[in-house]
Parts: sequence; C-alpha cells; structure tokens
Amino acid sequence: MREDLKDFIKSGSEEELLVNQLDFSRLPRHVAVIMDGNGRWAKKRKLPRIEGHRTGAKSVREIVETCARLGIKFLTLYAFSKENWKRPKKEVATLWKLLEDYLKKQDKVLVKNQFRLKVIGQREAIPVSVKKELERVEELTKDNNNLTIILALNYGGRDEIMDAVRKICEEKDFDMNSLDEERFSQYLYTNHLPDPDLLIRTSGELRISNFLLWQIAYSEIWFTKVFWPDFRKKQMLQALVDYQKRERRFGDIYPHEDLN
Ligand code: IPE
Ligand code: IPE
Ligand code: MG
Repeated sequence: MREDLKDFIKSGSEEELLVNQLDFSRLPRHVAVIMDGNGRWAKKRKLPRIEGHRTGAKSVREIVETCARLGIKFLTLYAFSKENWKRPKKEVATLWKLLEDYLKKQDKVLVKNQFRLKVIGQREAIPVSVKKELERVEELTKDNNNLTIILALNYGGRDEIMDAVRKICEEKDFDMNSLDEERFSQYLYTNHLPDPDLLIRTSGELRISNFLLWQIAYSEIWFTKVFWPDFRKKQMLQALVDYQKRERRFGDIYPHEDLN
C-alpha cells in the first residue's frame, strides 16, 4: 500500500484489499455524490430523521478525507435540492443549521488541508446566516489547490440550464453562431469545473433527482443500497474499484479494427 495511506487504512482490513486493487494513475478526477437515505437510516433505528442527517455529516467528513488522501481533485456533494423545500419546515431548518455548524467547525480543517470550497445552486434563497458562512469559507479557501469540494445547495439541474440560457439572452451582441457545447458550459454554475467522471447515488434509489443534468452526459454511474450515513471509506473504495473496471468508450470502439 502507498506509504502515505498507512495511517488512514488499517493493515489487514477490507479497505486495504480494495486500495491495493486501485490504479492511482486512473482515478476519477471528479466524483459527484447524491447523498441519499438519511431519513430511512434513522427510521430503521427508530430515531428521528435528524439523527440520520447528523450521522450523514460524519460520512461527509470521512468521504472528503478519503477523496483528498487518494488524490481525487473534485468532489461534488448534493446536499440540498431545490425540491427539498417541500419538506416540513423543521427538517429544512435543521438541514441548514447542520450545514452552518459544519462550516463553523470545519473551516480550520479546510484551510489546513488546502481544500477549496465552492457552492453551486441558487444562492438567493439560502438562509442569510448560512449564506454568510458559505461566502466566508469560499473566500477563505479560494486559492487552495488540493481537493475542491463543491456543495450543491438549493440546486436544480433544470434551473441551472435555464439560468444559463437567461444569461446568454441578456448578453449584448452575443453571437449565436459561436454557441457550442463548450461556450454554453461557461454559463453554467460549474464553469471552470470538469464534468464528473463518476456519479454515486446511495440508498437504492435509481434516479438522478434533477442533479447535474448537463454535466453527467458521459459520467459513469454507481448505485448502492447503502444509506448515506453508512457510506464510509470502504464503500467509496468499492465504487472506485468498480469504476476502474469499466471501459469508457464515449461512443467509440476499442480497438479500432479494419472492418473489411
Ligand atoms: C438525504 O437523505 C439528505 C437530503 C436530501 C438533504 P434523505 O433525507 O432524502 O433521506 P431519505 O431518502 O428520506 O431516506
Ligand atoms: C436528492 O435526494 C437530493 C439530495 C440528496 C440533496 P432526495 O431524497 O431529495 O430525492 P428524491 O426525493 O428521492 O428524488
Ligand atoms: Mg431521499
């Protein structure tokens, strides 16, 4: 095992077996995660849903560390969708409070490890005190060049595309002939970020739930039944090992052969 992972991965553990199967030169550059199943995790234990969200925050810390240790450069976490406002007020308030606490406590960790925090989504509707914290930590970490953590908050994939169209329409003298996929991407919230190579969804749901609709056009998708609060480094490593077994063809065929 790589020397620098020895204090993170126990020798003789299942995690070690998985790490040993990894090819570090072919890790995904960008992993995106739909962190789902906090409520059902709690229900199974006869706990209030909030306990699921609380334990889910521990998974966030562990997955952030795992990605950074392995050398993954971008991690996008779907933390609050535009549709999540439909939930009871109390749950919505708790989710934002947990995020605020996370930022207040984790800012030192982000700085120490050279992590950069970025937010995607419509910011205007985010509660003011949380927005302030987010902007403080974004500013504090903006020049860091280790792992970039992208939090999708009040995020909707269709919103993002609509916002891009609006921005383009508002530009004076925009030359429509110059509009191609690359140009369009520059108007998305994810401008300057590479598309996810790997998308993970926990909890057994087999859907996208309005997440990164444009950017996942060619992402590999990995579903697991594990609920988010139970998703830790072992599951992350399993996803990465599976990812590396896949052949990403992008419509091409390999190897190119003579058809005659
Ligand atoms: C994911 O877990 C957390 C958020 C959507 C914020 P859920 O709260 O959706 O948990 P389930 O899907 O109800 O189990
Ligand atoms: C998707 O999970 C949103 C987040 C993980 C933040 P949901 O639990 O809100 O999605 P649905 O309702 O199962 O589609
Ligand atoms: Mg859910």
